[in-house]
Amino acid sequence: MGFPKDFFWGAASAAHQVEGAYLEDGKGLGIWDALAGGRVAHNENGNTACDHYHHYKEDVALMKDLGLKHYRFSVSWPRVMPDGTGRVNEKGLDFYRALVDELGAAGIEPMVTLFHWNLPYALHQQGGWKNPAIIEWFAGYVEVVTRALSGRVRYWMTLNEPQCFAGLGYEVGEHAPFQQEPESLPAVTRNVLLAHGRAVQEIRRNAQQTPHIGMAPTGSLYMPRDESPAAVEEARQLCFSALGGSFSIAWWCDAPYLGSFPEDVCRRLGVKELFSPGELAQIHQPLDFFGFNLYHAVGLPVPGSAYDSTRYQGSPRTSMDWPVVPEALYWGAKFLTERYKLPLLITENGMGSNDWVMLDGQVHDPQRIDYLHRYLRELRRAVDAGFPVMGYTYWSIMDNFEWAKGYDQRFGLVYVDYRTQKRTCKDSYYWYRDLIASNGANLL
Ligand code: BGC
Repeated sequence: MGFPKDFFWGAASAAHQVEGAYLEDGKGLGIWDALAGGRVAHNENGNTACDHYHHYKEDVALMKDLGLKHYRFSVSWPRVMPDGTGRVNEKGLDFYRALVDELGAAGIEPMVTLFHWNLPYALHQQGGWKNPAIIEWFAGYVEVVTRALSGRVRYWMTLNEPQCFAGLGYEVGEHAPFQQEPESLPAVTRNVLLAHGRAVQEIRRNAQQTPHIGMAPTGSLYMPRDESPAAVEEARQLCFSALGGSFSIAWWCDAPYLGSFPEDVCRRLGVKELFSPGELAQIHQPLDFFGFNLYHAVGLPVPGSAYDSTRYQGSPRTSMDWPVVPEALYWGAKFLTERYKLPLLITENGMGSNDWVMLDGQVHDPQRIDYLHRYLRELRRAVDAGFPVMGYTYWSIMDNFEWAKGYDQRFGLVYVDYRTQKRTCKDSYYWYRDLIASNGANLL
């Protein structure tokens, strides 16, 4: 069998991680611009990043040469609406108009994420995701972007990883706005999910061509210990339980995709009910695909050991210290499509490492090739088993600003020298190019 002919092979980025030009052409400040000082490794920031704002033509040319079918990128809310609401910055929109035109000319399908974390600072000062007014603030921004870009854009994702911007942003305090306020989680959860529902309505109301809409969540995916029916069932139960706290999958996905909200999450939040039936209906808008960012899986405890079932002494890990668990793509495809009953788009998968330009002027990254090869074999296994998988998106097209970890972590297929902005295609870029050209036929 193998991958269907129209399989979407892609790569991704996010505005704040690549664009730079953080004060140019009328852009406003986002929370990562305004609040990250001193909270990022080496005191780094996204002010210049990959300067993609000025290098986008060169970057799209590399994507074209790579043979990408789609490119997933995000629109920066503060670039388009510097104060978050009201005034629209046409120059900011022009950048995205030019980018989607360039992608169109290269034959690459643009896929837009509407919110990938850099909330306008002006809105943070009014409470950000804690303030219910954000539901309409977001709807207003989504209307502006949909009107401007939907002539070219058909694929939309409302939110990237609520698990992270809510959990790491408001509970753990590792990501902007760097708050440790677990008590704000019920309000943040309500506002995020209601904003998602409103955004879907706005996209459908304003789109100039039939939109395909999803989200790009992530979450704790538990791996079965073995393939016995009992072990698979145990893992499935854990996957959709509240065990992972704000990183649990059902917390953020059940309401948009199923129209229900998990009771065990309510218990965890200390509330009897978080949404009225009318609110759940508002969140549960029709969606077209199930996007998911999937890098690894959570292992089950191994009795008498400090390790778990995905790790062992000396087991493979990326430079993020994330375990290499290729089977995550197979089990993810199975569990997620069986529960949410929509085609799955892997909206992110990839690995960070400390790549460098070698003496021969090339970037040799055999680990990334091996990682990709192993993960994609498992994705093919899922396709062969009949689970509806519509595409795969490598994170990331190029090295970029890895949030609180700064620039040490390189996820790209393209290496970026931040001193000169010189791009060098890594070995994995060429490997992925062959993979796309053969539609996965070169996988062992
Ligand atoms: C995010 C990306 C991030 C990547 C690697 C995801 O959590 O959506 O912005 O760079 O994973 O950490």
